[in-house]
Formats: sequence, structure tokens, C-alpha cells
Amino acid sequence: MAGGQVQRPSMEIIIKPDYEAMSREAALIVGRVIREGPRPVIGLATGSTPEGMYHELVRQHRDEGLDFSRATTFNLDEYVGLAPDHPQSYHHYMRHHLFDHVNLNRDRTHLPDGLSEDIPAHCRAYEQAIVEAGGIDVQVLGIGSDGHIGFNEPSSSLGSRTRIKTLTQETIAANARFFATSEQVPRHVITMGVGTIMDSRFCLVLASGGAKADIVARAVEGPVTSMVPASALQFHPRCSLIIDEAAAAKLERAAYYRWIYDHKPDWQRV
Ligand code: PGA
Repeated sequence: MAGGQVQRPSMEIIIKPDYEAMSREAALIVGRVIREGPRPVIGLATGSTPEGMYHELVRQHRDEGLDFSRATTFNLDEYVGLAPDHPQSYHHYMRHHLFDHVNLNRDRTHLPDGLSEDIPAHCRAYEQAIVEAGGIDVQVLGIGSDGHIGFNEPSSSLGSRTRIKTLTQETIAANARFFATSEQVPRHVITMGVGTIMDSRFCLVLASGGAKADIVARAVEGPVTSMVPASALQFHPRCSLIIDEAAAAKLERAAYYRWIYDHKPDWQRV
């Protein structure tokens, strides 16, 4: 992939004016990985944050011929107990926002199976499938208001692998907006672990809006701790955060991150 050998000594923080600019930048990077890799493997995320990025990737496919036919995808997570056709399942989300609109080979799109009868075996097979695909070139991530990546809630082992996880009440409340009542939000999910995410060659974290400002600051500038699983990304050799102004509002060193980005040598650009 482009710039694949570049090892960044720290997280790269890219501050964009608004959600649309954040989404365009993310789609530019993911689009480039899809274009340049012989067999690109893309890690996908759900939630409100990446919707604009998917919209832009679909536009690139339609208007610029972005070809997904060689790509393989792995999603971070899925609710336990929801069938793929449930409107709030992440299978459904992915069809709606991406899969139905681009030329991905469906046999190479992967999401955890929320109806699996043997969850531990399914999780092991999911990890194995990632390895067999050659590992993830770029993993797209959102960040939960409690600091989760994937559905790795606070106190998740920073070495964790794909497994079943119980959601925090904060996440259940945050996701209740997608369900008729919060009682309908599943309590359990299958999620890639923090360790699985850390194995990706490149992590691309998106965050937008003032509600994420606190957790972005804790993840980037706070101590590395399993209480903020996203803080583990400070150890990742190649991690970029693309955030909008509102999500950047509580970063102490925002001026320095802008300075770095503005003076980045061309060879370091993704
Ligand atoms: P959101 O979720 O994009 O809907 O804010 C982010 C997350 O929970 O990872």
C-alpha cells in the first residue's frame, strides 16, 4: 500500500474543518489503498461517524471508477442475536452504506456472525480468515464516547482478540437511538480485540463533533490505559486520526498537530 514502509513515531492528528472534510479525507486514503494494493484488505467500521466516508467511497466508485473487485473486507463487530437482515445489524448497515453500491465480491466481505452457535470457534475462525487474507492494510475505526474501539469497552485487555463482549450501559444508551427502546439494544457483541486491531498495518480513526472532544483528548494525550482502549493506538506504529474542529476542541497541542501536518514532507504523506 502507499507509504506502507513509513513508520510514524507518533499518532498523526489531522484536523479538518467539518464532518464533510473529515469524510472526504478518510475516503481519499481508503480509496488510495484500494487502488494501489494488488489484494487490498480493508477493515471496516459502523456507527454514525463513517457514514460520510462510505458515501464518498460510493461516489468515487460511481464517478471515478474506483474498483473494489480485488478488495477483501473485515468488519470490526456485530451484535449477538441479530440476524443479518435485522435493520440494526451491522450486516444490514454495510449493505445499505457500501456493499449494495460498489463492486465488492460478496464472498470476500466478512462480518462476525451474530447468530453463531459456537461463538469461541467462530471468533477463532474470524482471526484465521484475517491472517489468511494477508492481514488488514487499513483499519477504519470510530471511537466510542467511553473510549472503545470496535466494541472493546473500558477494561478490555489491550492484547485481546476477537471475542464476545458485554456492552457498557453508556454504549447501550448511545446506541439506543437506533432502536425503538434501549431494552432492544443487544447486550452482547462479537468484536475484534484491541490486539487484532493493533495488528493492522495502518489504523485510521475518525471522530466528529463536540461530544467526542473529551475522549479524543484522553485517547491521544492521556496515559495508555485499558480504561480508554483507544489510547492503545499510541503504541501503533502507523495510526492517523482524522477529526473535525469540534472533536479537536480539547486537544492541548492542537496547534502543534496542525504545524506537523502543514510541514509534512511529501514522502511522508499517505
Ligand atoms: P458513532 O460510534 O460513530 O456512532 O459515534 C462510534 C463507536 O461507537 O465506535
